[in-house]
Order: sequence, then C-alpha cells, then structure tokens
Amino acid sequence: MTSRTKSTRKPTRAPRPPARAAIGSIPLVQGKKGHPAFGLGLWAFGRWRPEDEARTKATLGRAYERGVRWFDTAEVYGNGRSERLLGDVLARAAGGAPDAFVTTKVSWEHLRPTQVRASLINSLERLGRASVDEFLVHAPDPHVPLAETMPVLESLWKEGRAGVVGVSNFGLEELEEAAKHLAEARIAVNQVRYNLFDREDVEPVLDYCRKHRILIEAYSPLARGLLAGRYLDGEKVPVEIKRYAYRMFEPDRLPDILSRGRALAALAKEAKVPLSSIALHWLAEQGAAPVVGASRPEQVDANLAAWAVRPPARVLARAEAIARGDRA
Ligand SMILES: NC(=O)c1ccc[n+]([C@@H]2O[C@H](COP(=O)([O-])OP(=O)(O)OC[C@H]3O[C@@H](n4cnc5c(N)ncnc54)[C@H](OP(=O)(O)O)[C@@H]3O)[C@@H](O)[C@H]2O)c1
Repeated sequence: MTSRTKSTRKPTRAPRPPARAAIGSIPLVQGKKGHPAFGLGLWAFGRWRPEDEARTKATLGRAYERGVRWFDTAEVYGNGRSERLLGDVLARAAGGAPDAFVTTKVSWEHLRPTQVRASLINSLERLGRASVDEFLVHAPDPHVPLAETMPVLESLWKEGRAGVVGVSNFGLEELEEAAKHLAEARIAVNQVRYNLFDREDVEPVLDYCRKHRILIEAYSPLARGLLAGRYLDGEKVPVEIKRYAYRMFEPDRLPDILSRGRALAALAKEAKVPLSSIALHWLAEQGAAPVVGASRPEQVDANLAAWAVRPPARVLARAEAIARGDRA
C-alpha cells in the first residue's frame, strides 16, 4: 500500500467577486423600469485606439460586476465602436445582462426621418439587443425641423424598440418645439452638461424639466476629472480634455476654477468625504442623475466608493457657494 503524504498546500479558493454597490433608482416618465440613479458613460473610453480595447472591456466588465446597470453610449462614440464593445461585454454577462439599462443616441447629423430609423436599427445591431431603454436625439440640428425627427422617435417607441425617448443638449425652445411633435410619447430625459462648475446649459431648462417631469441626466459630472481631484496639484491638462471641456479649461478661466477646486478639496478633507462624493451628490440633490466617465477599472471603483458616501446637506450647500465663487 502506498502511503499518501499530506499536502501542505492550502486549497485554492475562488476569488471573491467584488462587492455590489447600492446605486438607487429614479422613476421615469413612461419608463417600464426605474432609471438607475448613477451611470457609466462610454464616450472617452479607450480614446478608441485598438490597443486600448482590453482596458475598455475591463472597465465595462468591472462596472457591470459592481452593479452599475446604466450605460450611456451613442452612435458617434468611436464611430460605433463604443456600442459594439458594450454589446460584447453585456453579451458575456449572465443571461446577456437583461437588467442593463442602455441609453443610445442618434447623431445630430442623422435627424431626417429615414436616418433616425436607420440609426437606431444600426445601433441595436451593434449592441446585439432588440431594444434600448432610452433613445435620445444627441443634439439638435438647426437645419432639420424637429417636426421631422420627433414623430420617428415616437414610432420607434411604439414599436417597443426604445423604452423611452428623450433628447440631449436641448435648450428651452428646442424642448418646447420637440414636445409639440409627439402625440403620445413624452420626453423622458434631457441629457446635458452639468456639474458644480458648469450650470450654463441647465439653469435655463430646469423649471421646464421639473414641471414636465423630464429627468436631467448630468454629463461631465466630475468636470472631466477635476472634481475627482485631478489637475489641482499642477498636473497638466491634456489637450483632448481641454478640447471637450468647453470654457472651463480655457486660460482665462482655468486659474479661477483651479482655485475654487482647491477650496472644494479642502472642504472635502475637512468633512472627511471624497471630493467626488460632493460633486456627485450635489447633482443628485438637484434631482439629476450623473453619468460618469471612467477610463479604467480603478476609476469605476473610486467613483462607486464616492457614490456610496453621501455628504451632509450643509457640506453640499457650502460646496455650492464655493463653486459659485461666493466669498466666505
Ligand atoms: N450627450 C452629450 O452630448 C455628452 C457629452 C459628453 C459626455 N456625455 C456622456 O457623459 C459621460 C461622462 O462625461 P465625461 O467623460 O465628460 O465625464 P466626467 O465624469 O466629468 O469625466 C470623466 C473623466 O474624468 C476622469 N476620471 C473619472 N473618474 C476618475 C477618478 N476616480 N479619478 C481620477 N480621474 C477620474 C477620467 O479621465 P482620464 O480618462 O483622463 O483618466 C475620465 O475620462 C460620457 O462618457 C458620455 O457617455 C454625453
């Protein structure tokens, strides 16, 4: 009989899956599902170089694993690559991720009726889904009347290819005009640039959106990373960040924004909360749903950790005053 030697090796345990974050949800006009209160945007993911694909997929995969369900994409992001990558990652998730909440958008260059329909059909093909949860007009085109665009969104909604319809970057007049050309469908969301430093797009539409129960989805909620503490210690702002952050990073405004950013960071330190918790929960307090960008898995983790901490109301009020530039 052979004697069996006792192994000194410990049995290997399967790695524990990362903890699911509590996200919360917001009721949506005509929505069959609640709208997740926090989402992940897929615009700048990987900056669309082929070599970044693995990191991009890892970022998306981490977000889904951690409980993020709202994914914001558009036909223009990476010229369709963003939708394709999202489709691939969701297809590999359990059961094809039926619980994902997917937003996509028709480009401002495709607002003629046949183009709108073709845009959603192509997006669905890239996403590998029969429908999206939200279909938005990415931005108005002053040369195409909304009377042409909106009825097609309504038909797609009636056909069940879009859970709800909405718009993005719409001002007050455009919202009013768009609503006139919908019979039964309602505008459920307006996705606009909104963060502590940048309220120019939101303030003129806020009352209208509240009155008509249109959810404000806040893009660039971290001011392109500045409200996560980036660039406050002299880190150079990359060209692509400057290009898409509108006026905030221009030389005449940047020193003032950085000085307020440092004051906000000092407030966060004193309150013992992450600066990004202040940025995200200030938006939530305004009734907006932040759609955060992240280009790597660690940023997903950091942003979910920030979402998990709700700063006291007095800290959010102080943050608002600092960001506005009020003197103490
Ligand atoms: N409807 C529209 O017209 C429109 C326009 C713009 C954006 N959006 C949507 O909104 C989403 C978010 O917009 P955004 O990218 O401007 O949002 P953002 O959240 O303000 O900025 C995202 C950037 O901040 C940095 N960042 C994020 N988390 C960080 C962390 N924990 N620590 C340090 N840096 C961090 C990353 O920069 P690095 O990658 O450089 O590290 C990331 O790319 C987009 O992806 C898109 O889905 C929509």
